Amino acid sequence: MKKTCRAMNAKEKRRKDKKGNVLRVVDTPIWQLLQVRAKECSKGLDLARVLKNAGRFEGLSLQAPHVLLDCSKALWDEAVLQDLLQLADKAGVVQRRDALYAGAVVNETEQRPALHVRLRAPLAPQGASMLEGESEDECHAGLRTMLTLARQLREQARFTDVVHIGIGGSGLGPELLLQALQPWCVGGPRVHVVSNMDGHDLHQALQGLVPERTLFIVASKSWSTAETQRNMASAKAWVCATKRLHWPDHFVAVSSREDMARQGGFTQTLHIPEGIGGRFSIWSAVGLPVALAVGPAVFERLLAGAAQMDAHFAQAPLEQNAPVWLGLLDVWYASFLQMPGRCVAPYHHGLRRLPAYLQQLEMESNGKQVCANGRPVGCLTTGMVWGEPGSNGQHAFFQWLHQGTQRIPVEFIATRRAAHGLPEHQEALLANALAQAQALMQGAKAEPGQLPGHQDFPGNRPSTFMLLDELTPESLGALLALHEHRVFVAGAVWGINSFDQWGVELGKTLARDLRGRMDSGDVTGLDASTAGLLTYCCVGQGATC
Ligand code: F6P
Repeated sequence: MKKTCRAMNAKEKRRKDKKGNVLRVVDTPIWQLLQVRAKECSKGLDLARVLKNAGRFEGLSLQAPHVLLDCSKALWDEAVLQDLLQLADKAGVVQRRDALYAGAVVNETEQRPALHVRLRAPLAPQGASMLEGESEDECHAGLRTMLTLARQLREQARFTDVVHIGIGGSGLGPELLLQALQPWCVGGPRVHVVSNMDGHDLHQALQGLVPERTLFIVASKSWSTAETQRNMASAKAWVCATKRLHWPDHFVAVSSREDMARQGGFTQTLHIPEGIGGRFSIWSAVGLPVALAVGPAVFERLLAGAAQMDAHFAQAPLEQNAPVWLGLLDVWYASFLQMPGRCVAPYHHGLRRLPAYLQQLEMESNGKQVCANGRPVGCLTTGMVWGEPGSNGQHAFFQWLHQGTQRIPVEFIATRRAAHGLPEHQEALLANALAQAQALMQGAKAEPGQLPGHQDFPGNRPSTFMLLDELTPESLGALLALHEHRVFVAGAVWGINSFDQWGVELGKTLARDLRGRMDSGDVTGLDASTAGLLTYCCVGQGATC
């Protein structure tokens, strides 16, 4: 092996293009070495066998802030981890992390920094004096304004209900957090989240609400998202139907384009800095519905938990760094073992929207085929992220995970303690989570009289396990930051810009065109399928089947 590495290092020096640019990570010798390791692993790594060694748990699990991360049931070993760490080194993960933390431009295609980590840095105490000429940065100033507004609105208690309108990063975070922090939703208004353009969503949210006592928050970084604009217009109409109400008193806009909101008549606006990406925005003023429900102090505990994970990512040695392990494992599974995705199984009812939240976080960030410089990545990147809360998923798709012809890793997320005071439920739930991970790993041997093939199957299906003591604002903050950083690490290895999302723009443009055609019925220039469907939808022609 030493010889191979020396030869590899010598070649490495030549791996530059004519301009002296470092070649893609797939062109490095360590990548090729990992491909060999992947073949060995696919053929020879038997999880049930290696897990007979008690040291494997010690070696492949680590304690990060609020999260015990067990990767000993992952389809890798310490040698693979060491090689992956070398890959991270070649890809410049540390330098990229430092650039992220320093507020450098890491979103190259939009020429922006990504400032979500800065939002979690401790706020200066209220009223703390600034040095002359110094002002609070844009991130903290916006956050402070939001927390102050949340405090005032809770104190005034004028609104019994808040309807938060927002989609994607402007909706999923509030939805997840409101569910996860439900035990802390005390002393504030009821909060409802509306995302879907389908009118059923808004219609249902408004049932039983009283316009005089209802506040709408419209969160949209771009202030141009069709779903949010549509829901906002209908919500305004609903308020205006009560003649004596002045609608701007019932609305708060949260956006990077406060100018546009103000032009539209909004008088209460909060700012999202340009450097805060939608899927990283829950820590910003987008968190207003959450701060209203749980109170600013609890919201700050969430930020503090995330900050602890930020410090871990920045300071822990890479060999003991949870986001680094997970990001490298994601690269290993996708690019080397060619696994088509990951199943997320949160064994906590409060985390039932976590799979959807992570879908956006990971698939929008790393669902890309080119590097930041526009060159093809040259390997498989992030696959599908999907899942359901446990134990519900066990009775739906876990059969596929155990015996299907494709193999994907499962990520279990559980808490040691629950907040419901029903210990029998919690013990059974935990036993189920552990049992599923165990079953995936060991498979089954048919007993005499049982059906061979059906009741005996090989197992060797990988999983990771994240164990929190309990779901608190701090542990939730840490868990979400852990995922943000793992996505960042994987993106950095692939050389991807994890902070843009050009792919989703095309559909938005086409939808605007088709919306116009719906009125005219004009299908000129459309492909046959779209023309056929549009005609069928709108004009009723062709409805002969
Ligand atoms: O369409 C994708 C997207 O731009 C996401 O990145 C974003 O979180 C979501 O739409 C909502 O965008 P906005 O906050 O601008 O309404």
